[in-house]
Amino acid sequence: MDKIIIEGGHPLHGEINVSGAKNAALPLIAATLLCPGEHTLYNVPDLRDIRTMLVLLETLGITYHYPEPHTLVINSDNVEGFEASYDLVKTMRASVLVLGPLLVRLGRARVSLPGGCAIGARPINFHMQGLQKLGAKIELESGYVDAFVKGRLQGDTIYFDFPSVTGTENMLMAATLAQGKTIIKNAAKEPEVGNLIDMLVAMGAKIEGRGTDVLVVEGVDGLRATATTIIADRIETGTYIAAVGTAGGELTLRNCNPAHLPSFLEKMRAVGIYIEEKESSIIAARSGPIKSVDVKTMPYPGFPTDLQAQIMALMTCTTGLSVIDETIFENRFMHVAELRRMGADIRVDGGRAIVSGTGTLTGAQVMATDLRASASLVVAGVAAQGVTTISRVYHLDRGYERLDEKLRRVGAKIWREKE
Ligand code: EPZ
Repeated sequence: MDKIIIEGGHPLHGEINVSGAKNAALPLIAATLLCPGEHTLYNVPDLRDIRTMLVLLETLGITYHYPEPHTLVINSDNVEGFEASYDLVKTMRASVLVLGPLLVRLGRARVSLPGGCAIGARPINFHMQGLQKLGAKIELESGYVDAFVKGRLQGDTIYFDFPSVTGTENMLMAATLAQGKTIIKNAAKEPEVGNLIDMLVAMGAKIEGRGTDVLVVEGVDGLRATATTIIADRIETGTYIAAVGTAGGELTLRNCNPAHLPSFLEKMRAVGIYIEEKESSIIAARSGPIKSVDVKTMPYPGFPTDLQAQIMALMTCTTGLSVIDETIFENRFMHVAELRRMGADIRVDGGRAIVSGTGTLTGAQVMATDLRASASLVVAGVAAQGVTTISRVYHLDRGYERLDEKLRRVGAKIWREKE
């Protein structure tokens, strides 16, 4: 396993190319199961989770190749397998995204229940209830979801208790080939859902309501393979902006979409970070003091839960009081104990964390526990006095393409060593 070492205190200056979004690439790769043919995906990020998803799809019968970096061609002519095994699903719960496509392609899907993960129990009851509403027979046995449908799924109205992102994505993919009309109410509105809708429509699906919380899908008899571009990773974008907030300096983030970070960018301005939005780039700069702000994570377009750990690291570098409410996941404060090791003063009470900014942090040996918690340790490390060593960085490699390399190129003293 690798570890990352950071000597803090060096402001960041330069340009960073943002990669394609992990949370768009995963559902769009799953969508290639919906019909045979050669599917092309552009701007695919080179991440551990993408490689895991492709291993899973290979076990189902697809083949793939990269004709050039970040361009992925998937051939899904021969999809025979219908089982997503526990040993794969336990490493990445987004594997649940094959449930809907396999069910409509083969009439059968057997997907291991994901099991919990560091940030919460993360059940998939909304996914199962939605598919049952469309006529699937779902059985749970020995830790697997067994789904069957005789003939086609039948369109119906699905109401999500919570706007689940992958729940919405699974139902969208299943509904494209159902008989009749499906209405998804309280649907997730994240940009990654919009990217999936664009791909499905290009494949011949009939979907209305993109960008709203009511999606209407008119089932079609078949789809055809097409080419789609993955949107920029808004969470990677926000992570670098938080890093320039803690370390200081000025960064230009290229190939990103400011429109996908409405509440986060406003929050950064309130903190005192200069933000200039352009068509496909953002300039973020910080030279003066930063102010503490309160944060409440919400479904899109609210403040993203995937940037909560990163703004918490930023808040530890202010000299004020910041209240951070995590409303999406029940256990997404794993980074608190590690930030405390760096001198942070953070009190946790249920889903609320109260950060008393200490002005600066000190470098320490810390451990990554989950993807975004490890990103927050990098955001803290680039500003901390002294050296920070982060172990178990495979968590980081799940969702960030060459984060240490990209930061080194803009002046961070950050490098990787074998643990
Ligand atoms: C997606 O996860 C993202 N992952 C997560 O990003 C992100 O944090 C999350 O959406 C929220 O925005 C991918 O897109 C691959 P949810 P997802 O279903 O779909 C509860 C990252 O760091 N829930 O929107 O799994 C659930 O427990 C990852 O990149 C149910 O109760 O999240 C949670 O409390 C982390 N039953 C809430 O809803 C269900 O059937 C939101 O979950 C489904 C979800």
